[in-house]
Amino acid sequence: MSRSYSFMAKFIHWAFIGVFAIGVINQVDEVEELESAVLLVTEVVFAVVFLSLLLFRFIYMRTAQAALPQLDMPKPLILLALTVHRGMYVSLALIAITGLIIGGLYYFGSKNGWVLEAFLLLHEICFWISVNLIGLHIAGAIYHRRKGDGVWNAMVPILPEKPGK
Ligand code: HEM
Ligand code: HEM
Repeated sequence: MSRSYSFMAKFIHWAFIGVFAIGVINQVDEVEELESAVLLVTEVVFAVVFLSLLLFRFIYMRTAQAALPQLDMPKPLILLALTVHRGMYVSLALIAITGLIIGGLYYFGSKNGWVLEAFLLLHEICFWISVNLIGLHIAGAIYHRRKGDGVWNAMVPILPEKPGK
C-alpha cells in the first residue's frame, strides 16, 4: 500500500516553514525596540497566530498520520522520530510563549530586570533547540530517502526516492 499524505497535510507541512521563516526574518534585534507600540502589537499578534497555526497543525497531522499505513521500523528509530517531531512542536511553541512573556514583562514595566533577561535567554535557547531539531529532522528525512521506505515520498514532492533499497 503506498504511503502519501493528503494535499492538505503537505500544504500545512510546507506552508508552516514559511510562517516560521517570517518570524525569524522579522525577529526583534534589541529588546529596546519594544518601546514601539506598533512593533510590540505586531509581534504579539504574530506570536498568537503562530501558536494557533501550530496547534491546528498538531491536531490535523495526528489524523493525517493515523490514516497512513504503519511503518515497519525498529522501535528505537520510531521513538527517535517521535521525540524529534514532538520536540519541534514543543520548542516552536516555547519560542512564541517566551516571546509573549517578554512582551508582557516589557509592557508592564519590567524593562531590565533579571526576569526579563532570563526569558530573553530562554527565547534564544528555544530558537536554537528548534533549529537543531529541524536539522535532525531533515537528516532523518534524507535517511528515509536512502532507505526508500516511502516516508520521503509521502511528504516531499521533489527528488523521489527509489523504493526498497
Ligand atoms: C513565533 C514568534 C517569534 C519568533 C519565531 C521569534 C524569533 C526570534 C529569533 C529567531 C530571535 C533571535 C534569537 C537569537 O539571536 O538567537 C528573537 C529575538 C527576540 N525576540 Fe522573538 N520571536 C517571536 C516572538 C517574539 C515576541 C512575541 C516578542 C515580544 C513581544 C519577541 C521579542 C524578542 C526580543 C526582544 C528579541 C531579542 C532580544 C535581544 O537579544 O536583545 N519575540 N526572536
Ligand atoms: C527540507 C526540509 C524538510 C523535509 C525534507 C521534511 C520531510 C518530512 C517528512 C518526509 C515527513 C513525514 C514523516 C512521517 O511520515 O512520519 C515530515 C513530517 C514532519 N515535518 Fe518535516 N521536513 C522538512 C522540514 C520541516 C521543518 C522546517 C519543520 C518544522 C518547522 C518540519 C516539521 C515536521 C513535523 C512536525 C512532521 C511530523 C508530522 C507532523 O506531526 O506535523 N519539517 N517531514
